[in-house]
Amino acid sequence: MRIAVAGGTGTTGRRVVDHVRAAGHEAVVLSRSAGIDLTVPSAVIDDALGGVATVLDDALGGVAAVIDASNVTTLSRSTSERFFGAVTRTLLGAEARLGVGHHVALSIVGSDRVDSGYYAGKRLQEKLIRESDVPWTVVRATQFHEFTDQTLTMTRGPIAVVPVMRSRPVAVDEVAAFLVEVATAAPRRAVVEIAGPAPESQVELARRVLRARGSRRLVLPLRVPGAAGRGMASGALLPTGEFRRGEQDFASWLADRS
Ligand SMILES: NC(=O)c1ccc[n+]([C@@H]2O[C@H](COP(=O)([O-])OP(=O)(O)OC[C@H]3O[C@@H](n4cnc5c(N)ncnc54)[C@H](OP(=O)(O)O)[C@@H]3O)[C@@H](O)[C@H]2O)c1
Repeated sequence: MRIAVAGGTGTTGRRVVDHVRAAGHEAVVLSRSAGIDLTVPSAVIDDALGGVATVLDDALGGVAAVIDASNVTTLSRSTSERFFGAVTRTLLGAEARLGVGHHVALSIVGSDRVDSGYYAGKRLQEKLIRESDVPWTVVRATQFHEFTDQTLTMTRGPIAVVPVMRSRPVAVDEVAAFLVEVATAAPRRAVVEIAGPAPESQVELARRVLRARGSRRLVLPLRVPGAAGRGMASGALLPTGEFRRGEQDFASWLADRS
């Protein structure tokens, strides 16, 4: 089976590519470094009949499923909506033209409950997919184990400011394997979720990472103001229904890296 991976060079995407190949399938990478900018609007692609349009359509020839693990790093609502809106429209437009049978997108558990800037883009992405004629499955994952490192790099110096937040961190490799499992099965036209083995406090995870690395930085918990912050603190980013339970816990992930 030929499977295209949008964002196949990123943190999640390159592991998705590994799992696609390990399962004996062919992987096609869609990313700017592979020569394809997915934010180019599909209308321009249709009109131009050349350049990016040809490259994308060529890449999708014979593809049975597309896994979208592309991303933009931003806290801005408009940047996030612009990126996820454009990429999703470009992909779904090309998939509809070429008869691709399954669109699988990676989203975030609770992004429908917490109204923050970045999540607005994820909500738009899911809405466009639900409204499309292309058969689909949305996979929502909780924060990856790597997310704690991202929170620690948001501030510099002796004090690390970390948001008060409940999370259920999951191994990105298990998310990647689940995406491939979903993409190679029939489209569900539904959302499925994957989360790590145990709920954790993000502030405590940050302290554990710093201790494991012998860092003397202190963690200052930040109660993010507003409804989004209250939601994050009270567990709105944890799964509420059925979910695939990842096996690797944070302690074993940290031990592997320390
Ligand atoms: N981090 C978490 O804890 C977490 C949790 C749950 C879900 N997620 C979701 O997982 C997804 C992947 O996140 P990630 O952290 O793995 O991503 P990432 O490491 O930031 O990688 C982003 C990928 O997107 C590609 N890309 C960026 N702009 C592009 C464009 N204009 N056209 C084509 N490709 C483009 C990049 O390749 P080029 O630079 O070569 O274009 C790269 O391969 C996101 O949708 C995120 O919402 C993340």
